[in-house]
Amino acid sequence: MRILIDCDPGHDDVLAILLALAHPEKMTIQGITTVAGNSTVEHVTENILKVLDFIGVSIPVAMGCARPIRREPEPQPMAHGESGMDGPVLPAAKSKADQRHAVVFLQEEIMRQSEPVTIVSLAPMTNLAMLLTTYPEIKPHIKQICMMGGSLHGGNILPRSEFNIYHDPEAAKIVFESGIPIIMSGLEVCAEAKTMLKDFEPLKHGGRVSRLAYELMDYYSGYARERGWDYTNVFDAVPVAQMIQPELFSGAQYRIDIETEGALCRGMTVAQPCEDSFPERCVTVLEHGDGIRFSELMLDALRILDQTQPD
Ligand code: BDR
Ligand code: CA
Repeated sequence: MRILIDCDPGHDDVLAILLALAHPEKMTIQGITTVAGNSTVEHVTENILKVLDFIGVSIPVAMGCARPIRREPEPQPMAHGESGMDGPVLPAAKSKADQRHAVVFLQEEIMRQSEPVTIVSLAPMTNLAMLLTTYPEIKPHIKQICMMGGSLHGGNILPRSEFNIYHDPEAAKIVFESGIPIIMSGLEVCAEAKTMLKDFEPLKHGGRVSRLAYELMDYYSGYARERGWDYTNVFDAVPVAQMIQPELFSGAQYRIDIETEGALCRGMTVAQPCEDSFPERCVTVLEHGDGIRFSELMLDALRILDQTQPD
């Protein structure tokens, strides 16, 4: 399967990309696009370029939108640090981003493919909304969007809103109303497909990629450790894991509407049963995931990548 990843790295974005890289038999990353979210678009672009250089992987990276469609950016230094990927100390990136804007890059890459592509969305949906509004003819060339974001009941930035949707609800609304098939990994499935902190400890003695993953997790889990939790959520790895091992997950179809207004509910993904009369508005929402096997999949991926890397 050919995929394009739209992201805001972001510790968990990087772990998701590592997971995808470990499974070339399932997916080939054609390109990575970045968007303002966890930090500025410049920071998150530099972050992924640094990581790719460090692990010696060459994938085109295109920088995208610096701000949501009609709101101010709200970076998340509490979770990801000022850089969006605080923790690991990596050399500055030697590789440069593609000269094209992410929206143009996506359009050209998608149209270049002989078959419809899958987009993996791990960030606010600004780039994707701009793609769909600027090039509406692109829709039939997108097979599906596998995304991390939203929730059925909970929230992590407001009581009922998840960060990626909250950050640019207008963009999410455009994407969710596009009729493109969506598989949504929201907060509920991410709460089950979590990673025990003790499982990540041995990675510090592993190979080059494992050690990077350890440093990412060590910083990223600070929030969890402060609260006495023995696990952390690797949100963005969940949609990738579902593409690799769909049998670990289960869910149902819901109609999802995006709340764009309101101080309390901005970015809420409002779920209701699917109606036969609007099949194009039905989204597959993952609700359950096997946490133990998810963790194993992550750890195996890092071992696989360690073997391809000089120490
Ligand atoms: C999402 O928000 C970001 O901070 C993470 O990278 C993930 O994409 C989780 O709500
Ligand atoms: Ca992300």
